[in-house]
Amino acid sequence: MMMYYLVVVTVVYLSIIDKLSGRSIELPQYKIVYSESDFEVRLYPECSWMSALVTLPTNSFQNSTKQGFHRLYQYIHGANLNSTKIPISAPILTTIIINNNVNSSVQGLDYYVRLYLSTKYDKATPKPLQDLNLKLNKWKSHCIAIRKFSGFAEDDNIDKEVESLKNSLNKSHQVLTMVDNKNSSSSGSNSYTIAQYNSSHHHSGITGRLNEVWINVVSGFTAQGCPFYQEE
Ligand SMILES: *[C@@H]1O[C@H](CO)[C@@H](O)[C@H](O)[C@H]1NC(C)=O
Ligand SMILES: *[C@@H]1O[C@H](CO)[C@@H](O)[C@H](O)[C@H]1NC(C)=O
Ligand SMILES: *[C@@H]1O[C@H](CO)[C@@H](O)[C@H](O)[C@H]1NC(C)=O
Ligand SMILES: *[C@@H]1O[C@H](CO)[C@@H](O)[C@H](O)[C@H]1NC(C)=O
Ligand SMILES: *[C@@H]1O[C@H](CO)[C@@H](O)[C@H](O)[C@H]1NC(C)=O
Ligand SMILES: *[C@@H]1O[C@H](CO)[C@@H](O)[C@H](O)[C@H]1NC(C)=O
Repeated sequence: MMMYYLVVVTVVYLSIIDKLSGRSIELPQYKIVYSESDFEVRLYPECSWMSALVTLPTNSFQNSTKQGFHRLYQYIHGANLNSTKIPISAPILTTIIINNNVNSSVQGLDYYVRLYLSTKYDKATPKPLQDLNLKLNKWKSHCIAIRKFSGFAEDDNIDKEVESLKNSLNKSHQVLTMVDNKNSSSSGSNSYTIAQYNSSHHHSGITGRLNEVWINVVSGFTAQGCPFYQEE
């Protein structure tokens, strides 16, 4: 069964998102509480994500995303205790945590690949098969600083986009407290997320592709209604 899934998945990696883009794909709802030309701050309500911790022997955003997505894909295609088919949602998140723990898996970076779970599964979330090693993450309502970028999100360009967002946040003085808060071991300063909304399918062109860098607002933008947020 595992082999079958892996073969299928290689072909359709993320492509289902594009195929369905004519129809309505469920996305988490949010409210924009602040915006500037090159970034915005969104308040997300409580929401749930199915999450795959990826442990590969090398650091690669692309390879980690692919591996994590394979597992999430199997989950939504019935590899859960109820054999429930779950509609694809967007975005796919890859959270990269710069881990100072000497015992950390690989070269100090941990990758979590996550898929948004519709609120209709809040009451009864289908349990993933154990082999998939997935965890349900419930996020408390919090604010996220976001920078959009187009094209493909790749190992070569994501660092530049993350730096740009950090610089924008640093210039916008309200957020200095967030970026400079070195106290919390997993505050916005040492973790970030790449959100991908479109497929990696070779047929889809570069134009119109939407990706985002997400950095959690830990203690900034309180006047705009952002709660103090402690990451798990
Ligand atoms: C990612 O995977 C490809 C194909 O398996 C491999 O050739 C490449 O070396 C990997 N990249 C990294 C940075 O591990
Ligand atoms: C790392 O692992 C070793 C052995 O398992 C343990 O003794 C040590 O406390 C760990 N260090 C940290 C920082 O977790
Ligand atoms: C899964 O199956 C159990 C037992 O049959 C049932 O109680 C539960 O509601 C189901 N969950 C979903 C999400 O369908
Ligand atoms: C923020 O900007 C100040 C002044 O431009 C600079 O000294 C500081 O290093 C920047 N901090 C970060 C985290 O980029
Ligand atoms: C940061 O940590 C130090 C030492 O643990 C503590 O005294 C200080 O209050 C903390 N600052 C914040 C902003 O949490
Ligand atoms: C990518 O996804 C975004 C958000 O769902 C959508 O607006 C856009 O049309 C998609 N682009 C392509 C090329 O499918």
